[in-house]
Amino acid sequence: MSTMSRQTILTGVTTTGTPHLGNYVGAIRPAIAASRRDDADTFYFLADYHALVKGHDPDAIQRSSLEVAATWLALGLDTDRAVFYRQSDVPEICELMWILSAVTAKGLMNRAHAYKAAVAQNEASESRDPDKGITMALFSYPVLMAADILLFNAHRVPVGKDQKQHVEMARVIAQRFNHNFAELFVLPEAEINDNTAVLSGLDGRKMSKSYNNSIPLFVPEKKLRKLIMKIKTNLLEPGEPKDTKDCTLFEIYQAFATESEVETMRTRFAEGIGWGDLKQELFEYLNAHLCEAREEYERLVADPGHVQRVLLEGAERARGIAVPFIARVRDAVGIRPLD
Ligand code: TRP
Repeated sequence: MSTMSRQTILTGVTTTGTPHLGNYVGAIRPAIAASRRDDADTFYFLADYHALVKGHDPDAIQRSSLEVAATWLALGLDTDRAVFYRQSDVPEICELMWILSAVTAKGLMNRAHAYKAAVAQNEASESRDPDKGITMALFSYPVLMAADILLFNAHRVPVGKDQKQHVEMARVIAQRFNHNFAELFVLPEAEINDNTAVLSGLDGRKMSKSYNNSIPLFVPEKKLRKLIMKIKTNLLEPGEPKDTKDCTLFEIYQAFATESEVETMRTRFAEGIGWGDLKQELFEYLNAHLCEAREEYERLVADPGHVQRVLLEGAERARGIAVPFIARVRDAVGIRPLD
């Protein structure tokens, strides 16, 4: 393929929880930047069917869908360019999932990290039942993800490291389909966010909703300050030189500041900036950076009807592609009119 050809970039966000600073830096900001490129078509969606996998509270899934959508919109996603939709509003995704299931080896799914980890945990537990609490949705998770990706023939799929294997599985499934039936699917490639884009959380581990150590992107000002004050530091006193390496405060600052601001901050670390002062400054810096988008976010969250309409328009555009394409897929496998 020539390097000049148009690329389709697609990624999904599971609707569990509230977007945090780490999501913004690692995924949302680069996705919005990519949506402004002229040489790519971008598809971003709320993976609400994926959110069912862990058996979440229904109201929490609904709330998270609103919060994720409002976050992306508040941060300036241009929905005239990017196709922005909810997975559940595009029923062809589930239809494709079933068809893909018919070319997906069970053995391939057995090797999925998330499934294997769940089995290993069960085997180590008292009951020793390897299947305990494991649903078909958890087992088939990668097939649904393959359907998300392959339905729109995405070339590139930006994901965190933990999702790389799933994109590789989508590739294997696409190859199998293309070989057995017809060359309908593009073979997708994972695009892994580089490490510099991974933020640490309050406790110094990677910022993640599952570690409960995250700073939500749009918490009210007071709460933001409180959370920043909680970030773990070492015991060095003001005046003692400090290391920028493995320093969560520095990392967060660096993710938002310009290069020259970062250089100045390095000098101040060497000069022994006090942790208290640094925290206050980081708070002010972030707050200034986020306050406009936060206002827009609050406005959107208070107007779910508007967000819903934007998502439905996105789903209509997505289906403009999905409906004719799934017709070709059905035809290829023999689900055809009888006459
Ligand atoms: N599983 C992904 C995650 O948890 C979300 C997701 C669902 C996704 N479908 C996708 C990402 C398709 C990329 C492409 O992060």
